[in-house]
Amino acid sequence: MLPESRPMSYSRGEITTFVMPHMQNVLGDLFGGTLMSLVDQAAAVAAIRHAGGPAVTASIDRVDFRERIPVGSLVSCLATVDFVGNSSMDITVEVYADTVSTGERRHTHTAHVVFVAIDEAGKPKRVPRLVAETPEERARFEQAREHREQARR
Ligand SMILES: CC(C)(COP(=O)(O)OP(=O)(O)OC[C@H]1O[C@@H](n2cnc3c(N)ncnc32)[C@H](O)[C@@H]1OP(=O)(O)O)[C@@H](O)C(=O)NCCC(=O)NCCS
Repeated sequence: MLPESRPMSYSRGEITTFVMPHMQNVLGDLFGGTLMSLVDQAAAVAAIRHAGGPAVTASIDRVDFRERIPVGSLVSCLATVDFVGNSSMDITVEVYADTVSTGERRHTHTAHVVFVAIDEAGKPKRVPRLVAETPEERARFEQAREHREQARR
């Protein structure tokens, strides 16, 4: 049985992987399509945790590729559910690249993804309410709410 609500911290998702040669583009950096796949996977972890079951990608918002991530880096995608509707979940994915030899960490990308929870028939299914517990979480919740309102205008 699904709970009425879940705290934001419950569903945090993280994927970390080493950027291997087969993941590179012709310049020797992480291929953009592979990065998108990692972003989608991290968002799926957060969505499925919050929904307590299957969820599908409904949309991926703008992704700015601010910095290149060279082969040999560690890349981490951190996903949080920041807002929910009835069946939809607004998820922010922050991407970080670590240079292993120096320990330097760079924040390279931010993506906004919407997942929708589905039932056995593939139809949208209600998700638990989202509870923001800390000031930082409440700020993220407000920001996501405004982002959603703007997207609907
Ligand atoms: C996403 C999907 C389940 C929505 O089903 P639907 O019957 O069209 O849904 P509805 O119009 O009733 O909307 C249901 C919810 O989805 C949201 N939604 C639908 N399309 C959306 C989109 N493109 N972007 C963001 N949210 C979307 C609605 O806002 C609504 O949210 P709410 O329940 O919180 O109010 C359906 O379109 C689907 O299965 N798409 C394919 C998903 C897929 O293959 N993803 C890639 C592989 S995981």
